[in-house]
Amino acid sequence: MSPPTTPLPRRDFITGAVALSAATLTEPLLAQKAPRRDELLGPILGHSSETSAMVWLRAPVPGEWTLEVTPEAGGKAIRMKQAATEKDDLCLHWQVTDLQPGSIYRYRILREDGTEIAAHAEQTLTTAPPADAPAKVRLAISSCAKEDVGSRAVWNRMASENVDAVVLIGDTPYIDSTDLEKQTQRHREFAAVEEYQALLRSRPCWWTWDDHDFAGNDSSGLAAGKENARLVVTRYRPQAVYGDGEGGIYTRFRRGPVEVFLLDTRWYAMTEPSFASSHRPTMLGAKQWEWLQQGLLASTAPFKILACGVIWDDKLNAESDDWGTYKHELTAIQKFIGEHKIPGVILMGGDIHASRVLCYPTEKNVGYKLVQFIASPIHASTIPSLNVYHPDLVRSAVEPNVFLRVDADATVTPPQFVATLINKDGEHVFSYHLSTDDLSPKS
Ligand SMILES: [Fe+2]
Repeated sequence: MSPPTTPLPRRDFITGAVALSAATLTEPLLAQKAPRRDELLGPILGHSSETSAMVWLRAPVPGEWTLEVTPEAGGKAIRMKQAATEKDDLCLHWQVTDLQPGSIYRYRILREDGTEIAAHAEQTLTTAPPADAPAKVRLAISSCAKEDVGSRAVWNRMASENVDAVVLIGDTPYIDSTDLEKQTQRHREFAAVEEYQALLRSRPCWWTWDDHDFAGNDSSGLAAGKENARLVVTRYRPQAVYGDGEGGIYTRFRRGPVEVFLLDTRWYAMTEPSFASSHRPTMLGAKQWEWLQQGLLASTAPFKILACGVIWDDKLNAESDDWGTYKHELTAIQKFIGEHKIPGVILMGGDIHASRVLCYPTEKNVGYKLVQFIASPIHASTIPSLNVYHPDLVRSAVEPNVFLRVDADATVTPPQFVATLINKDGEHVFSYHLSTDDLSPKS
């Protein structure tokens, strides 16, 4: 690895004021009342590219609503009408196209009579810079959030760190049911958090799910009613693509020097024989595997993040929802990267309520050392027992209310990647540094 990263104090197995076990979660939910049936939620931003952006709103009543987008530098406004209907639970998605790369736009939402609704000063959207122009990007990535005080403080901290975009990789929110009403109610409650809305009014967000937002603890694609979970995601999470269009919610985006592949490690898990080994179950499913291979081959991003809810190891507990259970598919991914000499791949996971960095000796099959970052939890409930020994562990922290701030910079040579674990108070818990030199196949 170069340059050497100054090791910060490791905070594994810390106790006392900082670490909380799951059993000691006592942080009270603020008196955030459940949203009313007719409550306005949003606007928030979803998928965004160089030339497009998505705006989401849950309207208080059925009817026609207009999104107006105006270049901040001045120019002609774009107006798009959408009908809010009960069929879609009054959720509106506007996809604005033909925007200029790297540009700022102001947006407003208008009622049928032309008056503005949900007017906030920060209602701006910024398109991605041209893909291969030298650029910097700052992302916030994390998992496991509630509507509690600590999670809200993390949303505020992400905003004060001026992140360009947000990536949430599961248990965001906790639902633990595939009942359509319960799924809908929990997505509404999560979307109603004021600090979450404020964060996403001016920066795009992408989401994938883990077990608790998909169906329930340790759940797989065999979960009954999973179609309800997907339906609610398609209503409440404005993404350009949800899986293959019929199943799954995997998706991807490019922002400056980073391309993020948000994997769906739930929908297909255990539903068919693995593409990597016909007598073992699949994690990704054949369609998602094909999509991932094509995406990796096509990507020109210096850094390619493979992000999912679960961790890329064995949790070493009784649960099976980790890449340790599907090692045959992890091996296939590594082999594919190695055979095609794909540079810049970085792994990200969540789920375990502990945060870690692992650097694997994968030079032989991948061509370079693969690094995994684990970012969890946004809420306060840590699980010290999942911060297990691993020979390739290089950083770890059992720290509540955290997210990973990723700074990728392609304005310098070689492009740099710094991931910093930050807590709700802005304290830097650990950081880890990579450059494209570290992630280039060595032949
Ligand atoms: Fe969680």
